[in-house]
Parts: sequence; C-alpha cells; structure tokens
Amino acid sequence: MQTGGGQGAGLGLYGCLRPVLFRLAPETAHGLAINGLKLLQLFGRAGAAAGPAIATDAVLHQNLWGLDFPNPIGLAAGFDKDAEVWQALLQLGFGFAEVGSVTPLPQAGNPRPRLFRLTEADAVLNRLGFNNQGVAAMARRLLASGRGNPARHGRLGINLGKNKATEDAAADYEIGIRALARFADYLVINVSSPNTPGLRALQGRAPLQELLGRTAQALAALDLPQRPPLLLKIAPDLTADDIEDIAAVAQLAQSSGQLDGLIVSNTTITRPAAIDRHWAQEAGGLSGKPLFTLSTEILRQVYRLTGGKLPIIGVGGIASGADAYAKIRAGASLVQLYSAMIYQGPLLARRLNRDLKALLIRDGFATVAAAVGADHRRV
Ligand SMILES: Cc1cc2nc3c(=O)[nH]c(=O)nc-3n(C[C@H](O)[C@H](O)[C@H](O)COP(=O)(O)O)c2cc1C
Repeated sequence: MQTGGGQGAGLGLYGCLRPVLFRLAPETAHGLAINGLKLLQLFGRAGAAAGPAIATDAVLHQNLWGLDFPNPIGLAAGFDKDAEVWQALLQLGFGFAEVGSVTPLPQAGNPRPRLFRLTEADAVLNRLGFNNQGVAAMARRLLASGRGNPARHGRLGINLGKNKATEDAAADYEIGIRALARFADYLVINVSSPNTPGLRALQGRAPLQELLGRTAQALAALDLPQRPPLLLKIAPDLTADDIEDIAAVAQLAQSSGQLDGLIVSNTTITRPAAIDRHWAQEAGGLSGKPLFTLSTEILRQVYRLTGGKLPIIGVGGIASGADAYAKIRAGASLVQLYSAMIYQGPLLARRLNRDLKALLIRDGFATVAAAVGADHRRV
C-alpha cells in the first residue's frame, strides 16, 4: 500500500498531482478537488445518460435494506458536505456516497486553520465544526440533480447533524429528516462528531432512546413512496459500558422499527502512540491509518453484542482492499473511507474493489455478504 510518507509511486497521475496539492493548505486542496469533481460530473453526464451509472459485479454486489449496492466501498461523510459532487464520486467507482453532515441552518464552522494533514502517519486531523450550507440548499441541489428519480443514480446516503447553538438536538434531526428524507437511499443520525459541543453526549442510553424515538416518528410521519433506512453513526471513543448501552438501545430500536443500522465509527479524540506528540495539543478528530485498529475493534464488539443482526457500515482508517476485507470480516456489511483518498487519490475506490474481490475469491467467499462477520464464526 502506498503510504503518505512515500513518493506517490503506484498512484498513477495522482502521484504527480499530490505533491502540488500537498503544498497547498488542506482546505484549499479540498476546494480544488471538489471543483475537479464538478467538472467530471458535468462531462460524465453524457455517459450516464447512455446507460446505468454504475456497473454491478456478482461478487461485490449486495442487497441491504432492500437496496442494491453495486459494491461495498463507500465514501464517508464530510468530503461532500453539501451534496455537490456525489454523482462524480459514484462514477469513480464508489458503490455509495454519503453527503453531509448537513445542519438545518447554514453554518461557518470553526475558525481556520481547522484541517491538518499528518502526512507521516497517513492521518488527518479536523475540527471543521459542521461547516455547511444547510438543509434547504442541499434539498434544492438534490432536486435539481434529478434526485427525484432515484433509479437513475447509485446509492446516496444523507448524514444529518445539528447546529452548534441548538439546544433541542432532536428537533434539528427532525428538520433534516423532513427536508431531505425523500432524496436519500439511507439517512444517518450523526451523534459522534467531536467538534460540536455536547453532541457525543447523545450517545448515552436515555438521550439516545429519546432521540431515536423522535427521529423515527418524524420519518414515519412523512408521506414517502419508500421509507429510507435510518442509521446511527457512533464515535470510537467509548467505554465497554457505553458500547453495551448503545448496542442494547440499538437492538431495541431495531425491533420496534426505529433504527436500521449503525456506522462505526467517526473520528477519534484520542491520539494513538503513532502520532507525533505535537498533535496531542491540537483539538479535533483524528482519522486515517491510526484510527483503523480502534474503530475495527469497536465494530467487532458492536457486531458481537448485536448478534450480527444489525447491519453495520465500517469506517476508520481503510486504505487498502485488505483493510476493507478486515472490516467486513469483523462485521461490516459495507465500508467507507475518507482520509485515504487524500493520500491515494480518486482511483482508490476502483483499486480497493479489485483487491477486495481477489481476497474474497481467494478465501472461497462467493459474495461480500458471505464474508460479513466471518471472524466471529472461526473456531
Ligand atoms: C475533513 C473531515 C471531515 C469530516 N466531516 C464529517 C462530517 O461532517 N460528518 C460525519 O459524520 N463524519 C465526518 N468525518 C468523519 C468521516 O466520515 C469518517 O468517519 C472518519 O474520517 C474515519 O474514516 P477515515 O479514516 O477513512 O477518514 C469527517 C472526516 C474528515 C477527515
């Protein structure tokens, strides 16, 4: 696998582009990437009109929540916060893209600098604080993109957050659901970003129970041809008791039709040993390679505690087909990544799918679904 400290061999054109991008401030480089993808989207339209936007593969394909996922590699929330380039991301080979986090009102986020590359560790640190254009702008954009006709495109997740100043958090998620549910293949209640004060406290047993009750009610009250599945995204910084509480609440919510899955995990506020001590002083959530072990262990525990009955999207530190495979074996039905794309470029999803497929076939799995939770079945 290509590492951040390396010179970019094996990355194709991105090997030349990356040193240029890395000389820019991370948010400037991100803006350029978004603009590049907008161009791809514009020119990709003609191709998309000619046939299905995404190819399916018998090994990588999966049906989950009644939805077809052409492959299990998704783009995690935070890259396309305002749903500007998700179609281009699907064209690049992602099986699904999650946009957001989006809050009811537009918000500027925290003061800059707030996004850092930890190149020597293949990691990213961010304290963006839900900078986004708000739900109305996203709804307008999705409507204009023809999202009213979902069969046309690949899978789209919409990740909902709360505004910094809102005290009744559930009310903000209700607003997000009402504004955006009709555009979503799945919805995410994000209670795990470390950069919004008080947000992660919603993961406690009582607040979580109340939140899931209210969000499910808001969704049920809508007149939709199909109710999108509702997922909860959790943090990796949880004690064994916290995890047991979340698993118990989630199972209960699943049995009463309030919750359909979990996303494990968001960024960590811990600073694993591999990280230079300098970064211990900087506030924010750490993602990328140093998050892999922690987030995979939480995923493994959640899968075990929920008996493998609640679908999980595994995210945190995935940078190779082997990493994706490890998450799947630990219990993930689907996986996502963000940080590794910064280090390995836009063709990463295709590479990961190719390598994942080879690993599945090597180990005798006819489909991705057959490998989900395989570690738990080992004698
Ligand atoms: C710059 C940046 C912004 C992010 N913004 C969000 C966000 O708005 N909502 C969210 O749920 N997760 C957000 N995340 C977390 C990612 O979705 C993902 O959970 C995390 O980065 C771990 O995956 P990775 O190691 O592959 O990056 C963000 C991550 C990064 C690096």
